[in-house]
Amino acid sequence: MECSWKTVLLLVCASLGVQYTAIRTLTRSILLLICGLTQDIQNNHHSLSKHILLFATTRSGSSFTGQLLNQHPGVFYVFEPLYHVQQAFSNTSSRQRRTLDRRALLGAYRDLLLNLYTCDLRFMENYIRPEPQEHVTGAFFRRSSSHALCTPPVCPAKSEAVADGLPDETWCPKDCGALNLTLASASCLSKGHVAIKTVRVPEIADLRTLIEDPRLDLKVLHLVRDPRAILASRMMAFSDQFRAWKIWNATRRQPRYVDLSQITSTCKDMAASVETGLRRPSWLRGRYLLVRYEDLASNPEERASEIHRFVGLQKDSRVSSWISQNTNRDACSPSEWNFRYSTTRDSRATAESWRLRLDYDIVKTLQSLCSDTLALLGYKQAHSLVQLRNMSYSLVEARTFQPPL
Ligand SMILES: *[C@@H]1O[C@H](CO)[C@@H](O)[C@H](O)[C@H]1NC(C)=O
Ligand SMILES: *[C@@H]1O[C@H](CO)[C@@H](O)[C@H](O)[C@H]1NC(C)=O
Ligand SMILES: *[C@@H]1O[C@H](CO)[C@@H](O)[C@H](O)[C@H]1NC(C)=O
Ligand SMILES: *[C@@H]1O[C@H](CO)[C@@H](O)[C@H](O)[C@H]1NC(C)=O
Repeated sequence: MECSWKTVLLLVCASLGVQYTAIRTLTRSILLLICGLTQDIQNNHHSLSKHILLFATTRSGSSFTGQLLNQHPGVFYVFEPLYHVQQAFSNTSSRQRRTLDRRALLGAYRDLLLNLYTCDLRFMENYIRPEPQEHVTGAFFRRSSSHALCTPPVCPAKSEAVADGLPDETWCPKDCGALNLTLASASCLSKGHVAIKTVRVPEIADLRTLIEDPRLDLKVLHLVRDPRAILASRMMAFSDQFRAWKIWNATRRQPRYVDLSQITSTCKDMAASVETGLRRPSWLRGRYLLVRYEDLASNPEERASEIHRFVGLQKDSRVSSWISQNTNRDACSPSEWNFRYSTTRDSRATAESWRLRLDYDIVKTLQSLCSDTLALLGYKQAHSLVQLRNMSYSLVEARTFQPPL
């Protein structure tokens, strides 16, 4: 570097980066702006790159939606990196966990997201257990859900598998070896978009300082799904944790010890985020797109184009062929690949299949716990068991929430 004031400024920027969540004063904001500009001069990449957050909740269809980003060659996609932060915070004695400061956890989440968006993957080493050696780790959560982490320069080309159209999950873990985070950062820097999926941030307002950060150009894709479908899917996927619910479903009698709090907060957080997003506060204006999973499932091509337009991605043939392969019954895919739908009409049926899987007593309880959320998002109440099971009567109202800005 020829210019020493730049060095000083960059050092200041770097230290600010570590504690950016604490930035409050005007002086610091101004400094940050200058830092942003200096970084743009230093590294053209940052001024051009775009950042995408797929903001979702567990079992809301976020893996499917994430593929619309992951499959795009211009995207560096990371599947739930905040898992590592949560694990690191959880590994304390139970007494400490009870008093764990929610703000501290959210601050750590935002810190990690900022560092990932600026392609510093080594920052994750603070959270990965066991601790990576020489910036290499075998414990990166769901590494093979990220196409960029299974292809060059991170992993040598596997032309046969790629040519056969096999999903990365089927070969990446055994063929790619441990993950070199230095190479991962280089791959990230070579892409125009960095996309991250998370299901761990409760409300969109928790991300405000990140969205306002002048070093980022962040767009939030808020994925929502009918909470009744989310519950049915969680019951299938996490049967141990949902044992009381399964007993309720099978016996039609609500056990006293069933935990209603998790799904209730899912509904509350979802509604709060949607209300914030649709109110269009200045910090979120033009940066928020609400997508219902049911709409995506019934019309994947069109919704994918809308999503790509919103985040500034060109149409790409790899994404189109992924959609047709995974929404088509005739596609020849391994059975563990579970994003498949038979036809467009059938994919709508899949999105609504919870209606055949939940006892009406559970549905009624949920409808009263989550009535505001259901109404806000255009999910109709089932007023009887017959109506619940009548699949020719849709419980998803046609809605447009806002034009993407
Ligand atoms: C949790 O902490 C214990 C003791 O400090 C350690 O032995 C263990 O490996 C840690 N587990 C994880 C997942 O980090
Ligand atoms: C990781 O990749 C970098 C860049 O190619 C290389 O210099 C380094 O030696 C690699 N690390 C290991 C442990 O192989
Ligand atoms: C609920 O019970 C029905 C049978 O009564 C079963 O078909 C369905 O799979 C169960 N749902 C869940 C989510 O376990
Ligand atoms: C199912 O719903 C359709 C469409 O609303 C309606 O025409 C039909 O009568 C319903 N069937 C039953 C058995 O209620």
